[in-house]
Amino acid sequence: MADEPRAVVGVIGGSGLYKMPYLTDVEEVEINTPFGPPSAPLAIGTLAGVRVAFLPRHGRHHEYHPSRVPARANFWALKAVGVRRVISVSAVGSLREDIHPLDLVVPDQVVDRTVDRPRTFFDTAPVVHVELADPFCPEVRAALITAANSVAPRVHSSGTYLCIEGPQFSTRAESELHRRWGMDLVGMTAMPEVRLAREAELCFGILALVTDYDVWHESAEDVSVAQVIQNLHQNVETAQAVLRAVIPSLAKEPACTCGTALRNAIATAPEAVLP
Ligand code: ADE
Repeated sequence: MADEPRAVVGVIGGSGLYKMPYLTDVEEVEINTPFGPPSAPLAIGTLAGVRVAFLPRHGRHHEYHPSRVPARANFWALKAVGVRRVISVSAVGSLREDIHPLDLVVPDQVVDRTVDRPRTFFDTAPVVHVELADPFCPEVRAALITAANSVAPRVHSSGTYLCIEGPQFSTRAESELHRRWGMDLVGMTAMPEVRLAREAELCFGILALVTDYDVWHESAEDVSVAQVIQNLHQNVETAQAVLRAVIPSLAKEPACTCGTALRNAIATAPEAVLP
């Protein structure tokens, strides 16, 4: 796909974040991809001179539960309009006492426990194996940490995000197991986004909004949908402020290696590239 670049930064909004009201000159762009339509038309607008493509992960009316988010179409669409760096906003539960509900976390690692999601663009030949040891873009992470610290009182600059399949929350035994494994956060959406971003040679970082203590905490209430939604509404305002602060710093030319991930991959054909 060789469309004219129309945006350089992509934002994937999670539960509660369905628009970015401060974007100006917004145009809606429908993109068709080999993997079907994305979760919603892209809302492409301007913030501080930077063209941003916004996509609500679960659809405009929250139609797609985590296992059914068309992640391949979403990343294909972002790439097709020229996006090079993507920020994903994601609600998570905390698996650690010192990560409180309403805190912000910029994870540095991820563990995949999903079982029912397409996880590669390269399902047929060519076969491609990209590196994923450090799954997040260092530049996007650094920018997110700086921006988050400028607007929020409690920010954690690292953490391991364990991605469950859902859509149900964890059992108490699973939650205890995840804690014993040393996981810090539990959520349902980091995967396959992390994998697909790398295959698409996109810089990728997550701004995780902590809504609850999952079900392990003895004194806190067990996670409930009502609790997640209530804390999410509080956190979404903060997330919007972080996005406003971070986007201007993501317009410059990347100096990381995310944009050449396929060059270092084991691939069975040299033409293993996305649009
Ligand atoms: N998203 C928000 N809270 C969560 C939790 N406790 N488990 C999984 N996903 C979540």
